[in-house]
Amino acid sequence: MMYDLGIIGAGPAGYVAAERAGHKGLKVVVFDKRHLGGVCLNEGCIPTKTLLYTAKLYENALNGEKYGISCSKVAFDMGRIMERKDRVVKKLVGGVASALKSAKAEVVYSEAVIEEKKSDHIVICAGNQKYECRNLLIATGSEAAIPPVKGLDKSNALTNREILQLKEIPKSINIIGGGVIGIEFAGFYNSMGAKVSVFEMLDEILPGVDKELSVMLRRELTKKGVDFYLGAKVEEVKGTAVVITAKDGPSEIQADKLLVAVGRKMNVGGIGLEKTGVEFSPKGIKIDNHCRTNIPNIYAAGDITGFSLLAHTAYREAEVAVNHMTGEKDVMRYDAIPGVVYTNPEIAWAGLTEEEAVSRGISFKKASLPLAYAGRFVAENEGKNGLIKVIAGEKYGEILGVHIIGNPSSELIYGAAMAIEMQMRVKDMREIVFPHPTVSEIFKEIAFTL
Ligand code: NAI
Repeated sequence: MMYDLGIIGAGPAGYVAAERAGHKGLKVVVFDKRHLGGVCLNEGCIPTKTLLYTAKLYENALNGEKYGISCSKVAFDMGRIMERKDRVVKKLVGGVASALKSAKAEVVYSEAVIEEKKSDHIVICAGNQKYECRNLLIATGSEAAIPPVKGLDKSNALTNREILQLKEIPKSINIIGGGVIGIEFAGFYNSMGAKVSVFEMLDEILPGVDKELSVMLRRELTKKGVDFYLGAKVEEVKGTAVVITAKDGPSEIQADKLLVAVGRKMNVGGIGLEKTGVEFSPKGIKIDNHCRTNIPNIYAAGDITGFSLLAHTAYREAEVAVNHMTGEKDVMRYDAIPGVVYTNPEIAWAGLTEEEAVSRGISFKKASLPLAYAGRFVAENEGKNGLIKVIAGEKYGEILGVHIIGNPSSELIYGAAMAIEMQMRVKDMREIVFPHPTVSEIFKEIAFTL
């Protein structure tokens, strides 16, 4: 049977493409060898945020005194926590299934391999059946990279996948990699009472995040008891112990569990890409700003493209690809993609960091303000600090970057992304009426300091 669009991979890129294309009247088939929702829904964004919310509640209960509430015998039941996490995932995966059904997209739960590229269509083989597709979207995503560290393999190390199946909170955990995954899990296990050690090869955690903010978060987590080893490239592990080279020779940091979170490996293998002429490397598939590969009817979206590695980028890339294949004008822009680290406190940002603005030679002005300038923040964050930093063009005051540490920055940052995307100036921000009292008023407040 001939389809208008075949999609390999039903993660955020794949399922959104299927939904949008189906609603546009395209005949769509989407293949996945594991489950709907990909890493994000099953072993990434959603289960981790479910667990992190539990950790936040637990921490709040333990610190209830600060708000005049005495909680005695605060305890948690890991079985019920994991059960709720699984229920949340199941509900959302079910939601994707019904969305695809209402878009009339066919779902094939089977490994799909490109068999042949014909002049005007591609033949896909899945579960011993052949599917002919006028267009193909590759959305096979990524998986945890296991670095070539002596003694490290899947038998002693957990990745984001296995750690989400742990039935108990370990007494201690070593985490290799101080990136987003490492730090979110460090936050979770620290809140739940484990001794956490993070090993990061660079001189600061969270590469790519505004440095002032990552330092603030690291200090906050250190206060809560997390041990950070910076400039510590892990080159050897012994079981779950990490071997580090200190001044007086090597030493071993013991822990009950070991998590490895040093980045992702793109799933470019085993799908028959080499038969298509599509340009790709282990770093991912090359696309243009319509999310099209060098082959006109083959598109790619999501982690497989190798540079953004965020579910929300994947959604948008999928939309751009579908719009382009149906002749609708649309272009992918990466200037205002928000980023969030869902720790407690959260970090969120959109646009350029100060370091990026400097390296691109952009003339800019900047301002920082404690979140305590927003009454709501003070009301709800007893004894906590937060900060917002805004970077704006020197001459016209266009907003280039916004960086926030403090809760609930994850829910505020879309406002900054909109401002950057719509090329708003600081002056425009001053004229907007924000609801009072909300933490969002900080945008207006800081606009008057720029
Ligand atoms: P990452 O690229 O964010 O961080 C990996 C860290 O490991 C880096 O800081 C790197 O310097 C360090 N590293 C590498 N080799 C090392 C070694 N041998 N010893 C010590 N440190 C070493 O990768 P991560 O955390 O695995 O996350 C993967 C992707 O998942 C990210 O790119 C992110 O976009 C996405 N993600 C996003 C989340 C969010 O939006 N909140 C949450 C979790 C993941």
